[in-house]
Amino acid sequence: MSELNEQGNVLLTLLADGEFHSGEKIGELLGVSRTSVNNYIKALQEIGLDIYKVTGKGYRSAVPIDLLNAQTIKNLSKNRNVHVEQILDSTNQWLLDRLPNLENGQSCISECQLTGRGRRGRTWVSPFASHLYFSFYWRFDSGIDKLSGLSLLVGIAAVNALDKIGLHGVTLKWPNDLYYQGKKLAGILIELNAQATEACHTVIGIGINVRMPPEQAKLIDQPWSDLSQLSGEKVDRNLLSAALINELQTLLPQYEQTGLHPYLTRWLDLDCFLNKAVNLLIAGKTEAGICRGINESGALLLERDGVVEPYIGGEISLRLAKQ
Ligand code: BTN
Repeated sequence: MSELNEQGNVLLTLLADGEFHSGEKIGELLGVSRTSVNNYIKALQEIGLDIYKVTGKGYRSAVPIDLLNAQTIKNLSKNRNVHVEQILDSTNQWLLDRLPNLENGQSCISECQLTGRGRRGRTWVSPFASHLYFSFYWRFDSGIDKLSGLSLLVGIAAVNALDKIGLHGVTLKWPNDLYYQGKKLAGILIELNAQATEACHTVIGIGINVRMPPEQAKLIDQPWSDLSQLSGEKVDRNLLSAALINELQTLLPQYEQTGLHPYLTRWLDLDCFLNKAVNLLIAGKTEAGICRGINESGALLLERDGVVEPYIGGEISLRLAKQ
């Protein structure tokens, strides 16, 4: 399934309140038979919604669902280029498919992703209405050469956005991850379309764990955290989306002018491995040293035997050394 049809969307909106709705009423609302109601319910269950039936009462979503709303995000961010979908393969892919005919700041957000992707070809677990799957387009006229620190800048923008909506205590792990209490909270995947000497089209994908359903947690092969662990209150994904848009729209044009230099201090404040013993995994080899932050190109600075050297590249992984 790649999309919910109109009736599927009507049913989803109805069940989002977490109350019981009888099969008969649903059938009337959708203008379909009871058997078809069953099929629509199955379709919603297939995309990860926990909907169950109680005889005599009807169908109900186990938890109320706050759906994403494009208009709310547009109002909160003053950006009219916000596209919201219920089901997509990948929000990054949705924007990539529309290059180069996009306006700066075009965003795409989906309730779930069927083939959400992470770095190094990994899958990004993307259950329905549980997390935030957010992608943002930006064109850099300065070309690809100056963009080596972009993912670090985006990490700072994401932490700033969380701070602005009252979610504090998130840190950064070089080069692309947001961490909370030593566990991964969010990841960044930037995909580029660029020719040498021409403008560079970037799709900035950010996946933030909001409330991890227990069944989905079993699919994740590393320690994770979610926003429900750092906030006693329910996180409003519309507000979070708008905060991300606002922060990226402010920082990206500045970054294009100045590069990473003005953001180095902020990065060091947020760096969860700064001055800690770490292992760098590079092409099957392990380099042990002390993490000394980053340089203006976005390279990791590793101290070994008193000498600090920069490391950069897509195939490098950073791990805290065992104490
Ligand atoms: C990582 O491996 O840490 C990066 C994860 C990036 C996931 C986000 S979710 C929104 C966007 N669409 C995708 O398919 N991936 C990114």
